[in-house]
Amino acid sequence: MRDPSRYPHLFAPLIVGTRTLRNRIAHLSMTTRMSADRRVTDTLLNYYASRAQGGAALIVTEPVSGARFQNAPHKVRIWDEASEPGLARWAECVEREDCRLLAQLQDPGRGRHERGRNPDALGASALADDLSWTVPHVLSLEAVERMIADLAQSCRRLQRCGFSGAELSAAHGHLFHQFLSPWMNTREDRYGGDLAGRCRVLTELMAAVRAECGAEFIIGLKLPGDDGLDGSIGPHDAASIARHLLSAGSADYLCFAQGSHSYALDRHLPDLHGPRAPYVDLTRRLKLELPGIPIMAAGLITDPAEADAILAAGAADLIGLGRPLVTDPAWGLKCAEGREADIRYCVSCNSCWAAITEHRALSCDNNPRVGASDEVDWWPTRATERKRVVVVGAGIAGMEAAWIAAARGHEVWVFTAAGEVGGKTRLLSRLPGGEALSSIYDYQALAAKKSGVRLELGVRASIDDVRSLRPDSVVLAVGAEMSWPRAMPSSWRDAGCVLDLRACMLQMLEFRERQSGTAVIYDRDATEGTYAAAELLDRLFDRVVILTPRDRIAEDVPLVSRLGILRRFAFQGVESITLVELDENSRLEDGVIGYKNIYTGKAAEIADVALLTYATPRAPDLRAFRGLETEAEIHVIGDAYAPGTTMAATAHGHRVGNCL
Ligand SMILES: Cc1cc2nc3c(=O)[nH]c(=O)nc-3n(C[C@H](O)[C@H](O)[C@H](O)COP(=O)(O)O)c2cc1C
Repeated sequence: MRDPSRYPHLFAPLIVGTRTLRNRIAHLSMTTRMSADRRVTDTLLNYYASRAQGGAALIVTEPVSGARFQNAPHKVRIWDEASEPGLARWAECVEREDCRLLAQLQDPGRGRHERGRNPDALGASALADDLSWTVPHVLSLEAVERMIADLAQSCRRLQRCGFSGAELSAAHGHLFHQFLSPWMNTREDRYGGDLAGRCRVLTELMAAVRAECGAEFIIGLKLPGDDGLDGSIGPHDAASIARHLLSAGSADYLCFAQGSHSYALDRHLPDLHGPRAPYVDLTRRLKLELPGIPIMAAGLITDPAEADAILAAGAADLIGLGRPLVTDPAWGLKCAEGREADIRYCVSCNSCWAAITEHRALSCDNNPRVGASDEVDWWPTRATERKRVVVVGAGIAGMEAAWIAAARGHEVWVFTAAGEVGGKTRLLSRLPGGEALSSIYDYQALAAKKSGVRLELGVRASIDDVRSLRPDSVVLAVGAEMSWPRAMPSSWRDAGCVLDLRACMLQMLEFRERQSGTAVIYDRDATEGTYAAAELLDRLFDRVVILTPRDRIAEDVPLVSRLGILRRFAFQGVESITLVELDENSRLEDGVIGYKNIYTGKAAEIADVALLTYATPRAPDLRAFRGLETEAEIHVIGDAYAPGTTMAATAHGHRVGNCL
């Protein structure tokens, strides 16, 4: 690392337990689903090695199975001897980078993000999970003791294999959280009752791990700072719990997380619908009450200056980064080298979380290479032959393909009818909560400039414009447009009085004047942009109503973000009416709109309607480029290929850019 002086606090060493960390950057635990058959894989090792090479001084792994009752197929099992070669490789690839590797020990207990109940759940008490309503089988006294003994043995194994420590997670509604919380723990044995009883599972576990592994082994505790549930753990309780744990046990650092497995789940992963680094103040207050132990700040800290300021203000001693290190493993390296503009920043879309809860490997909207062996500070390799490449469309798929193709040595032109790059993502970034999305196309624009892409802004390229450049390859990244809901009266379209949500948003962002009356969104989309638009309309109209034929809104948004939408809508008063549709018999006159139930056909009306707009699945239109395929190699990418997610668009552009 060359010049860490820009961030003197971030790059100052820190003593944690008996060990010295080279800087203050810590990778927070995140499930990756990169293991296979309970063992480490090369992809998993790539993932962690990259974060260590990229500058983190401490990495907390995803949760591993350390107790014998734990056998989840997507978690690395560490309680058997057969795991040792894999664990040793894991430790070696991280520790050799002067980065301390800590395994996270926890169990979800009764907590479950997926739909349905978990019949295998074990828990502190026979009380329903606040989200899935799973009632766990209660761990007996003996089972708790066995779990503690198993986990201590597993820590010994970790240490033997080269790990520097373990983080015991009692946050996020995990099993140990379920012991700590008076709301979740009604045990009558010594692991329940008063604060000391509820903390006992952790104090005994810490003591057992210390006895097995000694003072050298780092023990971290992830604790609830405010779990968002009445009668559970608020900031005051958090301080009492932490104080007790520190007096009765011997932890080397503390990290506080918010939310739980409940309607407060959205607090796990704050996004830009709220302030940046929203938990720093709470962390600072807890730190004041807990002198003498390093405290890790966590939650939507994405910017190095922000991180340095948090440390400078004494609000925390370590900066925990989760999503930002998924997006860019070289975050630390680039900060140290003064290359902040080269960072691909987290856009807090929570697609990573959606991926793992949908049982896919960790992936990212703004990093198409998560888990690749060459992920750190990646730059394209040069092609053997220089081609002429024309990209039509400067959305995130087109721009990703363009900058990579140019960096590979090709001569690349990009045409866009718009005056700026970014396409529909730019529009999304202007809606409430979307601000960080600009990082996707800002990075691409910078990389495109660096690699010599010729950007033709404000040019709607015709087939002849493309032909005139005699390209070897043409990338059609022209996007897709929302289509008119087929059953909706075409007379409304002909009258031009009903626009699709995107056209509507462009107008609203332009005028931004408050209007009286009700704005109605006919939602046949169910993705994030529709609800961000509803929030903008809420600022402009007296009332906002979402009509949808589905049985719920925001169904295609990651659950953790969906709960945030529902929370905000509750406060804002944005209404939704489900299982309804607009059809050819729907009325729209004198400010009244008629709709009907999809099953019964029963009609109802909304009065005082000032605006009606619709959001539908998009459809591409490539007719303007028909015939090109006989003259050049054609790649159709992003929404133009198949309308999909932001992640699908960047990934597709990335793939095609690399194969040109
Ligand atoms: C995809 C994903 C998976 C996560 N899995 C875990 C986990 O298994 N254990 C845990 O303690 N926290 C988990 N977290 C929470 C993070 O450790 C962290 O507390 C949270 O992401 C806030 O930090 P950030 O804003 O820097 O992402 C996960 C977060 C994400 C995004």
